[in-house]
Amino acid sequence: MRHFLSELDLTADEFRTIIQRGSELRKQWEAHENEASLPRRVLAMIFEKSSTRTRVSFEAGMAQLGGHAIYLSPNDTQLGRGEPLSDTARVLSQMVDVISVRTFSHEALERFSEVSTVPVINALTDLLHPCQMLADMQTFLDHRGDITGKRVAWIGDGNNMCNSYINTARLLDFQLVYACPDGYQPNEHILAGAKGQAQRAASPEEACKNSDLIVTDVWASMGQEEEQQAREQAFQGYEITTDMMALANDDALFMHCLPAHRGEEVSADVIDGHQSVVWEEAGNRLHAQKALLEFLLL
Ligand code: CP
Ligand code: NVA
Repeated sequence: MRHFLSELDLTADEFRTIIQRGSELRKQWEAHENEASLPRRVLAMIFEKSSTRTRVSFEAGMAQLGGHAIYLSPNDTQLGRGEPLSDTARVLSQMVDVISVRTFSHEALERFSEVSTVPVINALTDLLHPCQMLADMQTFLDHRGDITGKRVAWIGDGNNMCNSYINTARLLDFQLVYACPDGYQPNEHILAGAKGQAQRAASPEEACKNSDLIVTDVWASMGQEEEQQAREQAFQGYEITTDMMALANDDALFMHCLPAHRGEEVSADVIDGHQSVVWEEAGNRLHAQKALLEFLLL
């Protein structure tokens, strides 16, 4: 049995196999052909934070694969009344085939996976967002081929998505150049593990130069809402604009995991412009996660 808590829970070959299968599933879906490869399998989805894409992609994905998904929020389960996550893991393991969890603490997710007897998927923690990475890497593959050896710029907060990009640079062997303001740096253990694959740039402009992909995310993640104003100050100069895109290679792509704030971390003309692949990136959550579910369950 395998869990997917981090990009590094997969080998590079496994990661590539999943995103290639995601591309195949996308083509099938576009042709209105759904392969019901997981009949009667059930996914329980625990969400302790809000979600649009992750919830809908897992729920629609399980339906298309012939299975079923159950949405569980603290508001209407015993989790909200103090039943421990670990007890919940033991109970759900008796009833479903796979569990996805969106929560705050990555350590809590790790403890959950230690007692679960079915595969556990990280649907986002404060540390990592590996399902989004599968979708991003599938999107790059579909547009530009293998990402190995390419240069990727991360601009903005050293948050869960940034940490996931650093892990993936290490796994798939691309160069990640990040520009994050002082005080908003990525996780130091994740950085240490990536060794030379992740480099800090002196400025956002420096990071964007000659890159093949530019990525950003919100300045205040879920749970940091009260820091919004302080962060807006700290991140001045970190908005991705057309001037910044112009520093990248001509065929550079723009990605953002969404939800986005136009006029904060990205200008409207970039996110709605010709280099942006954000809608396909969001759509690939469906296909990449269907491939992940097959990988974990078949
Ligand atoms: N990108 C992402 O995970 O979106 P949701 O928060 O809507 O699931
Ligand atoms: N960094 C963001 C990603 C949302 C999908 C957050 O954690 O809120």
